[in-house]
Amino acid sequence: MVQRVKKALLLTGLFVFTFGLWLLPSSRGQNQRDAFSRWRPTRELTGVRYVGSTACAQCHAQQTAKRLANSMSRALAPVDSCEILKTHPRLNFSNGPYNYQIAREGNRSVYTITDGLNSISEPILYCFGQGKAGQTYVFRHQGVFYESRVSYYQEIQGLDFTIIHPRSVPQSLEDGLGRPMTMEAARGCFACHSTAAVSNAQLQLDHLMPGVTCEGCHGPGGNHTAAIKAGSKNLQVFNPAKLEADELSQEFCGACHVGFEKALLMPKQGGANNLRYQPYRIFNSRGHSGDARMSCVTCHDPHDELAEDAAFYDSKCLACHLATRNQAKTIARSAPACPVSKQQCTTCHMPKIELPGGHAKFTDHWIRIVKPGEAIPN
Ligand code: HEC
Ligand code: HEC
Ligand code: HEC
Ligand code: HEC
Ligand code: HEC
Ligand code: HEC
Ligand code: HEC
Repeated sequence: MVQRVKKALLLTGLFVFTFGLWLLPSSRGQNQRDAFSRWRPTRELTGVRYVGSTACAQCHAQQTAKRLANSMSRALAPVDSCEILKTHPRLNFSNGPYNYQIAREGNRSVYTITDGLNSISEPILYCFGQGKAGQTYVFRHQGVFYESRVSYYQEIQGLDFTIIHPRSVPQSLEDGLGRPMTMEAARGCFACHSTAAVSNAQLQLDHLMPGVTCEGCHGPGGNHTAAIKAGSKNLQVFNPAKLEADELSQEFCGACHVGFEKALLMPKQGGANNLRYQPYRIFNSRGHSGDARMSCVTCHDPHDELAEDAAFYDSKCLACHLATRNQAKTIARSAPACPVSKQQCTTCHMPKIELPGGHAKFTDHWIRIVKPGEAIPN
């Protein structure tokens, strides 16, 4: 606990320091450059135009080539192009006297809840999540955005309660519909699952680009493409490679995947759900933060598909850990060797754990020795 508090203070210190610098006066050119270096995903950078990933592809073929393989690019779909709803034209679920139905009608899908006598129907606007684990639906009811009470889960190829939503029988049709969202909450959802949905602090869904696009991570590209064409040295684009390792994990990827500080603000650090907060989990893992070689991009290329073969990760671990006990330590490789195995490290030390009610397993990024019968640390 003491260690955690220390880390929190350290992070707060860093924040005050960076924020303090931001307040210092500087020239206009410097300001623009700083605007990009201070930028983080999900935040808005006012006054800079988005150009779309196709524009980036013209000059950055390497990063673009595999991009579509990464599910982040498919984190949201407008209902007309939503694959799951196209291939599952009728989905049903019942809860006590209430029945839910999602039915395809042409290129739209209608979400209905009925008690047999009365019903409420709303057209779905967006499908959230590509559906690797599941997919949740967002619609509008009486002018307010709602998150559907039921979601599609890959494992059961059907509907069940949306994670964290109450599983009890609702009080009324209205109550059973889903979770009404404040404007702030809705903005948050779109900011993590799509790009350019927010301008001037308002949701502007007509500007939305589905999924996390190049500009979702590198900031709006209008100035950059103009700067390149003008031969300017100020590239005006956010380059996460320049971040410190922990900043990259906690502030950059953590803007969406939930960093340590963000999790601390939640009741019980988000409870069981914090298994999904990889930046938070890894921050707590002894020996696995505060090293320049250790960040999310050590193991994941955000421009490529997720590697699912455990052997892929062995070399990452063995960059720091010795492979056998009698191997000589070097400055780079000084972390202890495993007495049990020389390979498939993640299968034992990053176990896959079922999220309660989630019909899916998540990889625990709290790298540790897992003792049989021991509770999952929080
Ligand atoms: C007209 C060509 C062109 C277009 C279009 C373009 N870039 Fe670039 N970009 C470059 C060049 C040239 C560089 C500098 C050399 C390099 O690092 O590849 C660069 C550098 C970068 C960098 C590294 C910046 C740094 O500080 O080192 C990033 C990140 C980047 N571009 C992202 C993007 C994104 C995202 C888009 C689309 C919004 C985009 N680029 C569109 C040509 C382009
Ligand atoms: C703007 C928000 C955002 C940022 C920034 C972001 N992610 Fe993601 N990421 C997502 C969302 C949303 C998903 C879920 C996509 C889905 O399954 O629909 C995801 C999924 C993933 C996956 C799972 C891929 C799979 O096939 O299962 C990995 C790995 C990942 N992100 C790594 C990273 C890393 C590493 C970074 C930082 C370099 C990062 N993300 C930054 C939003 C983001
Ligand atoms: C702080 C950023 C953030 C917000 C806000 C957010 N998400 Fe996500 N969401 C993610 C990330 C990151 C992932 C991928 C990792 C995971 O599954 O936990 C994800 C995953 C998902 C998945 C599973 C995707 C899959 O392919 O299995 C669904 C469904 C989902 N989100 C729905 C929503 C909905 C609906 C909202 C709001 C109404 C929302 N999310 C708000 C970041 C966010
Ligand atoms: C989920 C976040 C994410 C998305 C989406 C993303 N990038 Fe990146 N990009 C990064 C990170 C993180 C780095 C730094 C990687 C590193 O340090 O290894 C990077 C590095 C780069 C660089 C190289 C900068 C350098 O210094 O070498 C370029 C160019 C680039 N990205 C372009 C793109 C383009 C084009 C797209 C869209 C096709 C894209 N990126 C989508 C996170 C992202
Ligand atoms: C030491 C290696 C390592 C590091 C560092 C790492 N991951 Fe992972 N990550 C993995 C492994 C292994 C998997 C599981 C791959 C598989 O089998 O599907 C994974 C899976 C994921 C997934 C898919 C959902 C899940 O839980 O299975 C997401 C999202 C993700 N990582 C995000 C991140 C983020 C964000 C960071 C930075 C905080 C990060 N990872 C750092 C090794 C790593
Ligand atoms: C950047 C270097 C680095 C990387 C990469 C790394 N580790 Fe470690 N690891 C350490 C250090 C340092 C310690 C702490 C050693 C100590 O003080 O005893 C540690 C500790 C551990 C421990 C013991 C934890 C405990 O609570 O006792 C395990 C298990 C472990 N690492 C497994 C892994 C696995 C598996 C991977 C790859 C998925 C990995 N490590 C990647 C540096 C690293
Ligand atoms: C079959 C499961 C399994 C695999 C695979 C595995 N480990 Fe372990 N590892 C363990 C167990 C169990 C312990 C605890 C042993 C003990 O305390 O006697 C351990 C201990 C450790 C320790 C702590 C050592 C110490 O002296 O404190 C580290 C570090 C570690 N493993 C890293 C790794 C790395 C790196 C890999 C891959 C090269 C790996 N492990 C593969 C099960 C495994």
